[in-house]
This record gives sequence, C-alpha cells and structure tokens, in this order.
Amino acid sequence: MAPKSVAMPIVDSTAVFKNDLFNGKVLFCTGGGSGICKGMTEAVMRHGANAVIVGRNLERLTRSAEELSKLTGNVCMPAQADVRHPNQLKDAVAKAVEKFGRIDFVICGAAGNFLAPISELSENGFRTVIEIDTLGTFNTIKATLPYIRASKGSYIHVSATLHHRGTPYQVHVSAAKAAVDAISAALAVEEGPHGVRSNILAPGAIAGTEGMDRLSAKTEGGENLWRKVCPAGRTGDIKDIANATVFLLSDAASYISGQIIIVDGGMEHLRVPSLPYPESVLDPSSVKHLIKSRL
Ligand code: COA
Repeated sequence: MAPKSVAMPIVDSTAVFKNDLFNGKVLFCTGGGSGICKGMTEAVMRHGANAVIVGRNLERLTRSAEELSKLTGNVCMPAQADVRHPNQLKDAVAKAVEKFGRIDFVICGAAGNFLAPISELSENGFRTVIEIDTLGTFNTIKATLPYIRASKGSYIHVSATLHHRGTPYQVHVSAAKAAVDAISAALAVEEGPHGVRSNILAPGAIAGTEGMDRLSAKTEGGENLWRKVCPAGRTGDIKDIANATVFLLSDAASYISGQIIIVDGGMEHLRVPSLPYPESVLDPSSVKHLIKSRL
C-alpha cells in the first residue's frame, strides 16, 4: 500500500531559537499593522525585540500595536506614515529613535495589490503599485539607513514569486517586486562593507492573508487550488514566514546577504498557474466568481 502523504509540521520558532535572541534590539516594520508583516513583527518581538509598526491607518496600527505588546511582553509603537511620502517616513523613523534610541532591523513590507488585466489597468493603477512597493521600499531604506549602518543591522524586503515568470493580471505587482528584488541586491553589495545585510523573503501561498483571500483561485468548494499540488502538502501559514524572519535577522544568518529566500513549500519548482490558464485570459468573466476583486 502506498504511504499516506504527510504534511510538514509547522515548527514554532520559540521552540528553536532562544527567547532572548533579540533582547535590546528594535524592529521598524512597514505594513506591520496586519497580515504577514504583523506576524513577522510578533515573532521578532517574541524573541525580545521592541518594534515600531508603520502604516496608513492609525486606528488599525494602534490596535495591532496594543495587541502585539500584550502578546509578547515587549513594546510595540504605532507610527502613521504612507511609504510613498519620504517625509512621513522620516517622521516615523524619528519617533522610533526618540522612543527606543536605535533601529536594528527593518522589514519593508508595505504593499498594494489587486488583479487587473493589462488591457484594463490604468496608468495610475500601475503607478500606484510601483509607488507603494518599489518607491516605498526605497524611501524606507533612505529613512532608516543611517541607523542600520550604526547598528550593523539587517533588512528584509517582502517580495513574491509571481514575477519569476509571467503571471496574468499582475503586471504592476510583477514589475514592482522585480524592482524590489533588484534594490535588495544593490543594497546588499553597497552596504555590505558597512556591516549591513539585505535579503528578500518571498512568500508563496500563505493562508489567512488578504492576498490569498483576494488574489488566488479557489475550487467551487472554496478550497485553494494550490493546496493540493504543493510539495509540502499544505498551504503556508504566516508562522512559516515569521520563522524564516527570525532566522534571517539572527546571527545564524550573518553570512546570508543579497539573497532571495523563497518560503513556499517547494511550489516554485512546479510552475502551477495562479489562475486557470489560458481560460482566465481568454475569458476574464470565467474567473470573476473565483476571486473577490475588481476585474
Ligand atoms: N482594479 C483595477 N484598478 C484598480 C484597482 C483594482 N482592483 N484598485 C485600484 N485601482 C486603480 C484605481 O482605479 C486608480 O487608478 P485610476 O485613477 O486610473 O482609476 C489607482 O489604482 C489608484 O487607486 P486608489 O484606490 O486611488 O489608490 P490608493 O492609494 O487609495 O490604494 C491600493 C491603492 C493598491 C493600496 C488599493 O487598491 C488597496 O487598498 N488594495 C488593498 C490593500 C492591499 O493591496 N493589500 C495588499 C494585499 S497583498
């Protein structure tokens, strides 16, 4: 009888890394008010760090910061800023430094995403995502670099895998994330001699996130299409990205810089399209019922 396939367990990073791993360290995380970046922040805080989470919606940020402080026993401060505006980011960084005196880690996670065919995507729609993801990453680096140099710290940029090949309806995000990957590589080589590391974390299909909910195809029964075909036998969990974050920011990764770390259970090698292909491009209305989006 063929052996039953067994999904890999999700290991809790607190079972692997020391709880005081990041004691005295400070994380600055854009997009940290929700989703994957909130999970990444929680993991770093659970290992001793204080954090500043940055986003546009102060009410949501404040709620999340309170929650993270309570959960981890360390301090999380909300700082309102739109990453498209360098001055707002500079103010957020100033608040972080005033409160904590230093910044050791930066997660560039703020991103915008929606599905749209090239034929219908407006110039402003394309520009908006480039401005949030690409310019936002550059602006965050510019605002934090003096402090990261001083602490010989580390950057993680949250990217994706969709631009590693052509992905329908995601030209804007693909272009934006390809540029983010390029920025990280340039940062790694330019700032490496100053003691700064920079890496990309590229999540695959992560359950319970807005991206997964809105952007990926589901079966009629509501199950995610990728789940069945993922080598890991399951969709990812925010904890998977959080665990990779703890490793990448730790000294265990001190010789890892300029890399793209894909956390997708092995999906990258299978080339499974995110939407039924070519049906979804020949007839956009055929995927309308699968996705909560403005197609
Ligand atoms: N389909 C097509 N075009 C869209 C769109 C969609 N679903 N959503 C936004 N756009 C276009 C708008 O039409 C506008 O272009 P136009 O002026 O030519 O009409 C342009 O993008 C800017 O949209 P706007 O809503 O004014 O920008 P914003 O700065 O307030 O928000 C996003 C932009 C991307 C953040 C917004 O779409 C959003 O809130 N997305 C959900 C949050 C998100 O993306 N989270 C990340 C999950 S992975």
